[in-house]
Parts: sequence; structure tokens; C-alpha cells
Amino acid sequence: MNRRAAQEVLPEGSDKARVVQAMFDTVAPRYDLVNRVMTFGLDRRWRRVTVAALGLPGGSTVADLACGTGNLCVDLARAGLVAIGFDVSAGMLTAAHTTAPLVRADVVRLPLPDRSVDGATCGFALRNLVDLRRFLDELGRIVRPGGRIGLLEVAEPSNAALRLGHRLYFTRIVPRIGAVLSDGRAYRYLPRSVAYLPAVDTLVGEVAGAGFPDVVRRTLSGGVVQLLLGTRA
Ligand SMILES: C[S@@+](CC[C@H](N)C(=O)[O-])C[C@H]1O[C@@H](n2cnc3c(N)ncnc32)[C@H](O)[C@@H]1O
Repeated sequence: MNRRAAQEVLPEGSDKARVVQAMFDTVAPRYDLVNRVMTFGLDRRWRRVTVAALGLPGGSTVADLACGTGNLCVDLARAGLVAIGFDVSAGMLTAAHTTAPLVRADVVRLPLPDRSVDGATCGFALRNLVDLRRFLDELGRIVRPGGRIGLLEVAEPSNAALRLGHRLYFTRIVPRIGAVLSDGRAYRYLPRSVAYLPAVDTLVGEVAGAGFPDVVRRTLSGGVVQLLLGTRA
């Protein structure tokens, strides 16, 4: 990590909420382009795997939480599911390219009744939340018993050589790609925001404790991404 990135402090609490929202408003117009470039297009595959792994029948209603520009909503619709997207960033929602209904809302206070959806997805947003536990409780509240969740997030490969290569790519190359195509500050934050994520066992335990006791964690693409899947008890 370069010196400038190291000097930028990771915000917490209401500061974090403000910084994250402003950051996504800023990067929104080129968010998808940067994603495609920095993941070599793999992000599309990760989202398709997430939707397929839900295993929900056609016509099921799925809330895509922190939907951003609606990438998961598009894949959910393609799979015959009825998606509704929720995100706090007006910029991301404006840049969205899905026909699914989109709602501007904080995912810890969703305008949805208890047990009202058959499933929920969340792509690459866990580390951006101020209160992850509260979000998981909200998931437990809105998903009906038997309903499914798929939470996609970045991860660190367990293989040491892969981890080193990934770390170098994530901390040296990704911020440069972001600076050229979008906003340097936002894409310096990206690798640093991984520090917000709890340890794997803690995260799995928290998802289980929120009402998804059968939670399983899969890794994708050599471990650079993790997918947490669970069924509401
Ligand atoms: C990295 S983007 C992921 C977007 C999308 N899920 C995807 O897979 O491309 C993270 C998203 O989380 C949203 N977000 C962060 N905190 C949020 C919150 N508390 N409530 C709703 N959305 C939030 C941001 O606005 C942003 O759109």
C-alpha cells in the first residue's frame, strides 16, 4: 500500500456512513466499467453463481440489498426471480440498468414487513456497512422461514502464494485502475475496507446467529471472493 493510502484513516460510525454514501455517489457512473476491468469480467460470474446457489423456484421474490447499479437484480430477473433492489446511494440508483423496482433505503432499516421475501442477496457491501450485526438481524427479519440468502463479498485466498499475489494486485494495481478510470481515493479505500470484515469464523457465526443456522461458506476464483449461503430457520 502506498503512503497516501496508509495515511487515509478508515472512518467509523456516522462518518463511515457519510463517506461510503458520498464515495458511491461519486463512482456510480463508471462503477460497472471499473468492476469489469479490475475483475477481468469475473464479477459477472460471481453474481450468476450467487443467484443459482439460492436454488429458489421461479417467481420467488428476492430483495437485493445494497444493490448498487442493479447487477444482481439483472441476474435474478434472468433466473425468473422477482427482484427488488435497495440502496442508500442515489447516484448508484440513478446509474442502475435494471428494470427491477429500486428503493432508496438503508439496509439496516428496510421498508419491508417481517418474513415478506423468499430470499435476499447482497453483493460486495458487507464491509461498507456501519453495523453488520444489525444488517444480519434485518435479514433474519425480512426473509420467510425456508427462504434463502446469498451474501457475496471479497476475501483473501488461504494459499500463501495466491494471497500475496492477490494482495499486491488489490493494493497496487486496483487503485491505479480506479484512478485512471474513475476516482483514485475511492479505489484506494477499496483494498483498505477489507479490514472492516470480521474473521471468517466470526462472520459465519454471526450469519448463523441471525437465523440462518445451516450457513455455508464457499470461496470462488481461488479464494478472492466468498459466498455465504443460508436458509432461514
Ligand atoms: C461495492 S457496491 C456493490 C453494489 C452491488 N451490490 C454489486 O454487486 O455491484 C456497495 C453498495 O453498497 C451500498 N451501501 C453501503 N451502505 C449501505 C447501506 N447502509 N444501505 C444501503 N446500501 C448501502 C452502496 O451505496 C453501494 O451501492
